[in-house]
Amino acid sequence: MEHEPTARGFGVDSDDYAITRGRANVDARGLASRVRLELADVTTWEAEPADVVISIGASHAWGGTKQTLEAMRDRLRPGGRLLLGDGFWETTPSPKALEIFGEDEFGTLADLVDLAMACGYRLLSVTTATLDEWDSFESRWCASRERWLLENPDDPQAAEVRAIVDDHRDGWLKGYRGQFGLAYLTLARL
Ligand SMILES: C[S@@+](CC[C@H](N)C(=O)[O-])C[C@H]1O[C@@H](n2cnc3c(N)ncnc32)[C@H](O)[C@@H]1O
Repeated sequence: MEHEPTARGFGVDSDDYAITRGRANVDARGLASRVRLELADVTTWEAEPADVVISIGASHAWGGTKQTLEAMRDRLRPGGRLLLGDGFWETTPSPKALEIFGEDEFGTLADLVDLAMACGYRLLSVTTATLDEWDSFESRWCASRERWLLENPDDPQAAEVRAIVDDHRDGWLKGYRGQFGLAYLTLARL
């Protein structure tokens, strides 16, 4: 938004913390007059067709990638652009990885692009998260909870939080690390 001085945007998330944090970032960057963030269920959000739509790691909200591509198409003007961040298998997934992400939910990178084409888009660009980026993302996910546990060892919720972070770390390091990828597709709506 800082690079497009006439652009206006809005974003939706159902998580109060995410919206509060996002609004603080919007204010800190002086973008409050052009960026609106709402706490809402995105699947019921009515909006005029936009020039650009961004959906990163949120396909589960719509019930899957195909449903997301269809829903985003309805929210884009013809010729508009979708930046879609979605999962794919970099290699044959382990049983544990399939247990975490589901048997049928994701395919290869080529499958993801084919699905986008079949849903009425053309592909303009593909990039994928590197292993370092994944490790950084997962480390920070775990570390925020580990820091809380270090500061609150006797909290009544500590055992539950410890179990969640242990389970997540096992899924990452013993399950899907190096197998599950995240692709960013820039798509043009036909
Ligand atoms: C993996 S996070 C990705 C967040 C963000 N797009 C990013 O790239 O950092 C998925 C987000 O989808 C949100 N979400 C899930 N279902 C939703 C729904 N029905 N309506 C709005 N937000 C939803 C969650 O609250 C969560 O913040």
